[in-house]
Amino acid sequence: MSDDAAFDRGDLNAEGHVAERPVEAALRPQRFEEFVGQRRITSNLKVFVTAARQRGEALDHLLFAGPPGLGKTTLAYIIANELQVPVHVTSGPAIEHRGMLAGLLTQLEEREVLFIDEIHRLTPVIEEYLYPAMEDFCLDVPSGTGAFSQTLRLNLKPFTLIGATTRSGLLTSPLRDRFGIVERLEHYGPEDIVKIVNRSARIMDLEVQPQAALEIGQRSRGTPRIANRLLRRVRDFAEVQGDGTITLEVTRLALDALEIDGLGLDPMDRLLLTTIIEHYDGGPVGVETLAATLHESRDTIENEIEPYLITQALLQRSPRGRMATRRGFEHLGKIPPTRNKQSQLF
Ligand SMILES: Nc1ncnc2c1ncn2[C@@H]1O[C@H](COP(=O)(O)OP(=O)(O)OP(=O)(O)O)[C@@H](O)[C@H]1O
Ligand SMILES: [Mg+2]
Repeated sequence: MSDDAAFDRGDLNAEGHVAERPVEAALRPQRFEEFVGQRRITSNLKVFVTAARQRGEALDHLLFAGPPGLGKTTLAYIIANELQVPVHVTSGPAIEHRGMLAGLLTQLEEREVLFIDEIHRLTPVIEEYLYPAMEDFCLDVPSGTGAFSQTLRLNLKPFTLIGATTRSGLLTSPLRDRFGIVERLEHYGPEDIVKIVNRSARIMDLEVQPQAALEIGQRSRGTPRIANRLLRRVRDFAEVQGDGTITLEVTRLALDALEIDGLGLDPMDRLLLTTIIEHYDGGPVGVETLAATLHESRDTIENEIEPYLITQALLQRSPRGRMATRRGFEHLGKIPPTRNKQSQLF
């Protein structure tokens, strides 16, 4: 992929766990009432949180799955906030050995929340060590060596583990089964993104015209993080090239300058589709082949690029690989073939 495309992708949907700029943190909803959309999930969570609080017990362990930037970390913080307990934050790759996990778990007070981001990246050894902690609130600590080695059982205070993953498919079933609540976040509809844009605009003290909010809503890949970033970019254009008001005209100007098209596809999205169409006759083509052709990781393709293309019916996963759909061809102004393998799809 080109440097420009790399810049756009990383810049527009940089991972949430990487130290966020304060402005992004300021936009993060703190309570369920401020969290837009995903109604089914939040109404269930409110019930579970209220019930746990009424019983004075730790909330059951929770797993959030779904593409980047949809609100997994935000929900973890909201839950701790609503439970009125501190949240201790770590991530799968940060827990390098059992001692680190033991350190984290033993510092938890009753009902507190431990948030493990990218939980699919825990090593198998750490994962196994976590099982009794999740299930029975205890840890088996090895002590001594050789013939004198034994295992000491350490009791933990009841706590809540919240895991987040962009790759739920990589989670082992024993780990997944230990979560009492598993929720999958999906991309947001344009109306919800419009609400998020308007909320962020209020916090940032910006005047956004309704048509402009709608335009951003339609071009944010159904992703709140991207919507917030596009809003900040549009603000730059509005301040430099206008009077600061975010109009439809300045929004279109900014999004076109950023090469975000009418469906919200960025240069990397279009490059993936174009590659399938131009190099592989529309597919099917294996994801590894695509990764090699685009100089992009399979992970990024599967988790960050494809999900939105699939929700937009531009791309289809088949057992033999990825295929561009008729809509995919048409979106890029290409003529769809009428061959059999393609016609099966249309
Ligand atoms: N439902 C929502 N309502 C309002 N703002 C939201 C919502 N969901 C996410 N956001 C905003 O989008 C940003 C990204 O959300 P968050 O960091 O929770 O995503 P994530 O799913 O944890 O992503 P990643 O997988 O990259 O860690 C947040 O800073 C927050 O401001
Ligand atoms: Mg996150």
